[in-house]
Amino acid sequence: MSEVVLQDVAKHYGTAVAVENMTLRIADGELVSLLGPSGCGKTTTLRMIGGFVDATKGRISVGGRDVTGLPPSRRNMGFVFQNYALFPHMTVAQNVAFGLEMRKVNKVDAARRVREALTRVRLSQYADRLPKQMSGGQQQRVALARALVIEPDVLLLDEPLSNLDASLRQEMKLEIRQLQQSLGLTTVFVTHDQDEAMSTSDRMVLMYNGKVEQVGAPDQMYTQPRSAFAAGFLGIPNLLRGRLSTDHTSFVTEAGPVLRLAGHQPVVGGAYLALRPEVVSLSTGAPTGDVNALPGRVEVMTFHGAVVEYQITTEAGPRITARATAPNLGGPAPMPQGSRVWAQWSPQAGVIVSEH
Ligand SMILES: Nc1ncnc2c1ncn2[C@@H]1O[C@H](COP(=O)(O)OP(=O)(O)O)[C@@H](O)[C@H]1O
Ligand SMILES: [Mg+2]
Repeated sequence: MSEVVLQDVAKHYGTAVAVENMTLRIADGELVSLLGPSGCGKTTTLRMIGGFVDATKGRISVGGRDVTGLPPSRRNMGFVFQNYALFPHMTVAQNVAFGLEMRKVNKVDAARRVREALTRVRLSQYADRLPKQMSGGQQQRVALARALVIEPDVLLLDEPLSNLDASLRQEMKLEIRQLQQSLGLTTVFVTHDQDEAMSTSDRMVLMYNGKVEQVGAPDQMYTQPRSAFAAGFLGIPNLLRGRLSTDHTSFVTEAGPVLRLAGHQPVVGGAYLALRPEVVSLSTGAPTGDVNALPGRVEVMTFHGAVVEYQITTEAGPRITARATAPNLGGPAPMPQGSRVWAQWSPQAGVIVSEH
């Protein structure tokens, strides 16, 4: 079992706080991503787990064993860096064998394990190449094999995909997730890309300014963001500023319109109504029935394959992003720039989020 527990962990550099009061439990076999903007403390957290950075305070344990004071070599963790960090003068096989040599594994066993690790990342044909003779994606798979060959208790990945181009990133993302699941490997995956975090993780830890902002499964994070920051970072562009009415049945936007709400809404101070773009539909005629509707005008229409995205300026104030199914997949006919439309959504569709 390799459950990872961080208990009130912090890292200070002089008076600067890189990570503060981090408490987190990562279950055995779980993939948890650390997500957030540059400088929020993701790498520092990962390096404290790996033992490359000493925690200023707090405890870290793996499988019930306190590892807080232990050096990286005694934590049995595999690490993959953004820039691969392969030894340039060593072959692929020698790179992968390195950790086994350090652990004094005998040559016969080491050779077998290197072969297995290279097969696992589909590089068995490349054992004798040098890193510079490999593509970026292949080099990153060597780095992955090098991390896996030691049979780590925990796999730590620091933005492993960010040096790869978009299609390779997609492919590697799936490959890492499949490997991680088939090995049942407890994994911490650092990324600043919400899409990457959503599509690979069992749970996501959204960080901001050295602190945990919100933790949850991807669908939960997307449908129930807690704050305007979380909503914005998780790709929800519609954040209408305002306040809850005293009877909690409507939301009074700063820009003017009063919008109907349904269901339980938490009471917060300064607030925003977060509306996911796919819950907003557009029509050319005035809507009827139990909906919120704002009249407006299409400013921008962009095609994204299966969906069409619209930017609507509403006469009553806020700008709204709406996402519709593409016309050829059964969605509405395109509404070009300048079209007069109604943006509408049901009272259940909005989520009230806190200012911060
Ligand atoms: N060795 C260091 N000395 C001083 N400050 C550091 C050091 N490493 C990181 N920091 C600071 O700690 C904060 C978090 O950094 P980091 O963990 O690298 O963020 P992220 O990986 O989320 O981009 C940043 O403000 C960064 O400048
Ligand atoms: Mg970083």
